[in-house]
Amino acid sequence: MTDTPAISRRGVLATGCALGGAAVLAACGSSGGEAASTTAASSTDAGGAGTVLATVGSIPVGGGAVFEGPKVVVTQPQEGTIKGFSAVCPHQGCLVSEVVDNEILCPCHGSLFSAEDGAVIQGPATKGLAAASVSVAGDEIVLG
Ligand code: FES
Repeated sequence: MTDTPAISRRGVLATGCALGGAAVLAACGSSGGEAASTTAASSTDAGGAGTVLATVGSIPVGGGAVFEGPKVVVTQPQEGTIKGFSAVCPHQGCLVSEVVDNEILCPCHGSLFSAEDGAVIQGPATKGLAAASVSVAGDEIVLG
């Protein structure tokens, strides 16, 4: 295993789009069906209930978004159903990179996980993605 962090194409794009945004990177747009990759904007005005990651409408049905800061991937396997998982691949620790057709991809060695429950669809990972504590408040997806 190398210690080189995974740098996804999306991550590079997001970083390139967010000039000057040291702590907060805004997604610069996504093409249909693919996951946006971004870091979460910290929310301090939500009563301390957690960190607002995104809005429900920003997560494509069948897709998702990877939040590199908190290392969380949020999916919407069916319209109105939001799920959250650790974005850290249990194989060797890379961050997953995208969610397409309800499958979460780890770019390092090709593991695929279910966007519904995080279970392994294809190895080499032998364990699924751990659930993350996300909830929906209004149209906002909140971590923690
Ligand atoms: Fe994810 Fe190897 S680290 S498949």
